[in-house]
Amino acid sequence: MSHDKQHSFSNSDQFKDIVAVKDIQKYFRMPEAEMVKLLFATLNNNDLARKKIHKEAKALIKVIREKPLSSLSIEGLLLQYNLNSEEGIALMCLAEALLRVPDVTTINRLIEDKLGTPDWSKGQESQSALGHAMQWGLILTGKVLSKTDDVHHMQNVLKSVIAKLGQPALRKAIHQFMRVFASQFVLGETLPKALKVAKKGEFNGYCYSFDMLGEAALTAEDAAHYFESYIDAIKSIPKDLEKSIYDRPGISVKISAIFERYETSQHEAVVTEVLPKLKTLCLLAKEHHVGLVIDAEEADRLILSLELLELLMTDKDLKDWLGLGFAVQAYQKRSVAVIQWLSKRARKHQKRLMVRLVKGAYWDTEIKEAQVMGLSGYPVYTEKEHTDLAYLACAHHMIEANDVIYPMFATHNVLSVLTIKHWLGKRNDFEFQRLHGMGEQLYKQLMSQSPLRCRIYAPVGPHDDLLPYLVRRLLENGATSSFVNQIVDQNVPINTMLASDPLMSIDPKNIILNPKIPLPRHLFKSGRINSMGQDLKNHEVVLDLAKQMDDLPWEDLDVKPLIVGVKQFKDTQPITNPAKRSHVLGKAYKATLKDVDQAYQAAKAMVPKWQAVSI
Ligand code: FAD
Ligand code: 2OP
Repeated sequence: MSHDKQHSFSNSDQFKDIVAVKDIQKYFRMPEAEMVKLLFATLNNNDLARKKIHKEAKALIKVIREKPLSSLSIEGLLLQYNLNSEEGIALMCLAEALLRVPDVTTINRLIEDKLGTPDWSKGQESQSALGHAMQWGLILTGKVLSKTDDVHHMQNVLKSVIAKLGQPALRKAIHQFMRVFASQFVLGETLPKALKVAKKGEFNGYCYSFDMLGEAALTAEDAAHYFESYIDAIKSIPKDLEKSIYDRPGISVKISAIFERYETSQHEAVVTEVLPKLKTLCLLAKEHHVGLVIDAEEADRLILSLELLELLMTDKDLKDWLGLGFAVQAYQKRSVAVIQWLSKRARKHQKRLMVRLVKGAYWDTEIKEAQVMGLSGYPVYTEKEHTDLAYLACAHHMIEANDVIYPMFATHNVLSVLTIKHWLGKRNDFEFQRLHGMGEQLYKQLMSQSPLRCRIYAPVGPHDDLLPYLVRRLLENGATSSFVNQIVDQNVPINTMLASDPLMSIDPKNIILNPKIPLPRHLFKSGRINSMGQDLKNHEVVLDLAKQMDDLPWEDLDVKPLIVGVKQFKDTQPITNPAKRSHVLGKAYKATLKDVDQAYQAAKAMVPKWQAVSI
């Protein structure tokens, strides 16, 4: 490929040996410093180019900061209410807890429990952190919305509103808060409605990828419902066979929504149940001339989705369709290996894939899960700059494989965008993507400077299904390291933002790990080692365990009672593997009634001696 003259990639052979899925797995929990070194080996740092990119980034950030923000966009909310504050954290805790509650009665009880019964009439000072969250609820539900600029007035209004409201109304306010917040992220509650709203964006040069809300189905009924919603959605997209598929709307599918047991242990069921469903959706997408991208979800589902993707790649009925797509999370240590695997498989099957590169939205979950399980390492990076670096390394590999990959760079980070844009030079065989309700100004500015393809990922569905998505947006934007968070905070100097450029801030000879996130086994400050878990969601680990079990000399088990004075036992009974009764592991000798009596007498004889032992 011909790159922009100023940029050259180094010729690293790292990751070139990836052929099978198991080659990807060796990077799963690789030590972070080792991984970062490998990433660096792929990328060349060109100081001149960095200077140019920083200059452009500075100008762009300035312009974005000068533009007024809609008070109900995520950026606007961040500006007014710091998600990192006590109330922000309280709100996120509540939202996160609400996720795990199945029914309305329990939701009400949870809110009651979290709120307690504070004396609201005492006003601001006595409010719990959740009381402050309520304040948000009230502000956003319109009770005091128009006065948010006048702090004293707002506090007075709040005091009287809170005193008058009482608890049931407060509960309602929380729900309303979530609803108002939710409406910023959903394009429409149904696809026909969303298509109408999308018209304005399309007029401004955007394309859309519709994400039918719903994920992690727990029952077959839910999964069937979400599957139907995808079918209806694709059918509602008007056909237009004239345009290139890259300029057409698309659909984003979360496999966990259409199958309730989308997990490694259900490998066979995943293939038999999910594959036909995915194929149905793909055939419909092909017919309507739209792309279909498989969203990236939790790390332990990655291999399953790659296997499904390969089966779709080789399906004869989908042969000439260019719309098959896959999302890759850069924060996973396996990310570059995945890009290599995708390009090799696509080449082998003579297929061109649409690949969306994201940083990853499940970071907190991945960290927490590895810690709870006491695993050997994390599947994701623990330093934000390492993820940013991996994003660039993946982008580089995608650009290299442009013959079989149509690259879709999904990010709201000015530095990530400008670096990739610089690498691509004058080419136009790619697109950027942003989430609905985020990054508006960034792309508006870029698109006004030169022609640029940009797609908006737009959630569609009832607000009730939005909560997990919403919590991910709150968590990722609440972090002070988040680019969106920094861009709205005028207190963060532009130079500080530029200093986090991974190509400038990371020294490959001295890689600094996050001191706040020790390895899962070294979690405890006391120095006590965390108990070790087995990564049963990793197919390779399960296979290895099974092999170790097979290698044990089970057949020789000989189990006898321990009774003083009894050496011989006559009756035996076979011990069998409870998972496979035909597998005899050994034999157990049975005690007779006489043996039990003997054991009792021996114990009784010991009583005086035992009683004489000092405590
Ligand atoms: P930045 O602020 O530059 O980056 C934030 C990201 O950095 C976090 O999201 C996290 O990934 C990473 N990060 C934060 N803290 C740390 C840390 N301490 N150590 C290591 N890494 C850290 N996500 C999915 O998982 N699956 C999808 O299918 C998906 N689809 C998307 C589609 C579109 C169009 C877009 C724009 C995003 C999508 N995302 C998806 C979300 C995406 O993964 C990011 O969460 C989000 O875009 C923020 O990244 P950024 O580059 O915009 O912002
Ligand atoms: C998410 O659902 C956007 O797919 C991404 O968080």
